[in-house]
Amino acid sequence: MGVQISPSILSADFARLSEDIAAVGQDADWVHVDVMDNHFVPNLTLGLPVVESILKTSPLPVDCHLMINDPDRWAPAYAEAGAASVTFHVEAAHAPIRLARALRAAGARAGMALKPATPVEPYVDLLPELDMVLLMTVEPGFGGQAFLDVVLPKVRRARQMVRDGEHRIWVQVDGGVDADTIGRCAEAGADVFVAGSAVYGADDAAGAVRALRNAAELATQSAWWVS
Ligand code: DX5
Ligand code: ZN
Repeated sequence: MGVQISPSILSADFARLSEDIAAVGQDADWVHVDVMDNHFVPNLTLGLPVVESILKTSPLPVDCHLMINDPDRWAPAYAEAGAASVTFHVEAAHAPIRLARALRAAGARAGMALKPATPVEPYVDLLPELDMVLLMTVEPGFGGQAFLDVVLPKVRRARQMVRDGEHRIWVQVDGGVDADTIGRCAEAGADVFVAGSAVYGADDAAGAVRALRNAAELATQSAWWVS
């Protein structure tokens, strides 16, 4: 599949979401939608009704990142609404295997997210149930935070697990990904890159997406995990 860029609308203008999504519609692979419930994270964004409206007009498939408690209860509705990818946090899930199966049964790719301090090794046996692992490279909750380099060894280990198991799973990074940090993520093993402020904080959002893709592709060419 190669490098994929998923701009996060957390840094877009919430009163102009369809325009801001259309602005990257020719250049991005996904639109990343951050759902926050003010319980799992100390911030509140948007929920299912807004996602349903985005789905009606978005030229890009929707990559839902649910930073919410009890995703077992709430996440399947995002898949049923038509989100092409739905990612829940493993720290919040009660039955992650059952939930991942429910997401796939509803037609979505199933993603599992880990906060920076959550180890990936305990979940090696869950990989066949998943389509994507999201490794947070900031503490979830806010855009514009500084990238946490300490997560890079985990990105590497996650990619190694995916390779060892010959799984067809994407490794996504989210948080502080910009033109400076994206190469390190790609080298370590990421192939799906979320960027909020680096895209919507730029004067030319589409140009920023292209620049991120170029930097990621360059770093991927010589990465250890690409054979
Ligand atoms: C943060 C969100 C991110 C956020 C990233 O918890 O999950 O998707 O938009 O923003 P930047 O790219 O600005 O760090
Ligand atoms: Zn996110």
